[in-house]
Amino acid sequence: MKAPAAPRAAALEPIPHPPKKPFVGNMFSVGATTPIQDLVALARELGPIFQLDIMGKPITVVSGFSLVDELSDESRFDKSVRGPLHRVRTISGDGLFTAFTSEPNWSKAHNILLPNFGDRAMQGYHPMMLDVADQLMLKWARLNPDDEVDVVHDMTALTLDTIGICGFGYRFNSFYREDNHPVVDAMVDALEIAMTVRGLPLEDVFTRPRRARLAADAEYLNSVVDRIIRDRKAERAASDETQKTDLLDYMLVGVDRKSGERLSDENIRYQIITFLIAGHETTSGLLSFATYYLLSNPDILARAYDEVDRVFGTDLSVKPTMKQVGALVYVQQILKETLRLWPTAPAFGLLPYKDEIIGGRYALKARRQITLLLPALHRDPSVWGERSELFDPDNFTPERERARPLNAYKPFGNGQRACIGRQFAMQEATLVIGMILQHFRLIDHQRYVLRVKETLTLKPEGLKIGRASCRERV
Ligand code: HEM
Repeated sequence: MKAPAAPRAAALEPIPHPPKKPFVGNMFSVGATTPIQDLVALARELGPIFQLDIMGKPITVVSGFSLVDELSDESRFDKSVRGPLHRVRTISGDGLFTAFTSEPNWSKAHNILLPNFGDRAMQGYHPMMLDVADQLMLKWARLNPDDEVDVVHDMTALTLDTIGICGFGYRFNSFYREDNHPVVDAMVDALEIAMTVRGLPLEDVFTRPRRARLAADAEYLNSVVDRIIRDRKAERAASDETQKTDLLDYMLVGVDRKSGERLSDENIRYQIITFLIAGHETTSGLLSFATYYLLSNPDILARAYDEVDRVFGTDLSVKPTMKQVGALVYVQQILKETLRLWPTAPAFGLLPYKDEIIGGRYALKARRQITLLLPALHRDPSVWGERSELFDPDNFTPERERARPLNAYKPFGNGQRACIGRQFAMQEATLVIGMILQHFRLIDHQRYVLRVKETLTLKPEGLKIGRASCRERV
């Protein structure tokens, strides 16, 4: 069969862009506090692909399903580690999230770690997840009638504590302190600095103090994590006790079958910092948005209660097993639908290996940044229909999921660079939502109207529930 002819240059179309300002281009088309929501508004106006000129640097933003489907071809496009993500390397080095695909440590760590995020490893994490989830239940059950819960705060405490124990046997004990753990402060500060440096002229001069702070944050994080690794190695050397079921132990003993090598202590340090960065705000945002959608959709909430009563039962002294968590199918549909409308890691970057034409008409230059904008992809009416803005967990019934093209829904990224912690996050979130529904009767006392706050991730700003709106059920 004859290969289809390559499109001729004459068939190419310019990529749409908003009007540019002299010198700064489209620098101010996207606000500093709501960049993702501004990009989604631009996608609505300009269509499935558009380009921004940021101080002479072109960035192509893609959100239409058919183009994303093409961009998901890993033989043509690679993950991009540029700009803010590249600056995050100051604290996470060549850890999985910020490594270049071509770096030897990426494939080495990927091969070693992948089984430790699979079914068997999850069995080992389940009791630790339960331990932290229990702490949240206890805190909410003990609220006074006039107390309010800051949902995002508590969900972040929960996910941080969970990754701390499952990752490296460390208890941040966030439910027992008023302030943040210093590791969290250093990490959040470093991320904030890495994300907000914008590459402006003379910025180097103005941001010198902030960059110094970033270096200090990195030094502090390294020292804490290196001590955890040293202590664990000493503990292992001193005792015959069988291996612990956390990621740190798996990394210390794991050998990459392909290269026959282990991870270096420095790389293990970067992986631990990576799990903290990648694994806690994303999952806490998911839990917070899911709570919001439950509070504001009484019919969906009622169906979720029915399922939890059936699967977990109402005896609070019997703790849910991992199998029961897996049986909360409707709760999982709620979580997936939450990540459709508000994917908490809302965008990721790709680079073409060589000059490319996509959709038969848009030219992309080799190694030029492309951003995949997930909240817009996940609302593309060509896949999700005209009611794509509405929250409907039935979008994720097994039949509808099977019938839908794979690349229409990408909250966990693409291909081999997709999220390694996906199952971990879904198991944790399903367990926690299940337990909240088992324990409490949720009411939206605040008549909360959704405001999305953007940092590295997305979260519902100011979402509160009061004691009166999370009464114990039994
Ligand atoms: C709802 C929760 C989560 C969401 C929405 C999420 C989303 C993502 C996305 C979109 C990527 C790809 C980023 C890119 O291409 O630049 C990614 C990668 C990654 N995630 Fe997650 N994630 C979540 C939870 C977790 C958890 C719990 C962990 C660890 C315990 C984790 C660890 C990672 C790592 C290590 C990578 C890099 C994988 C690689 O490139 O080899 N994530 N995640």
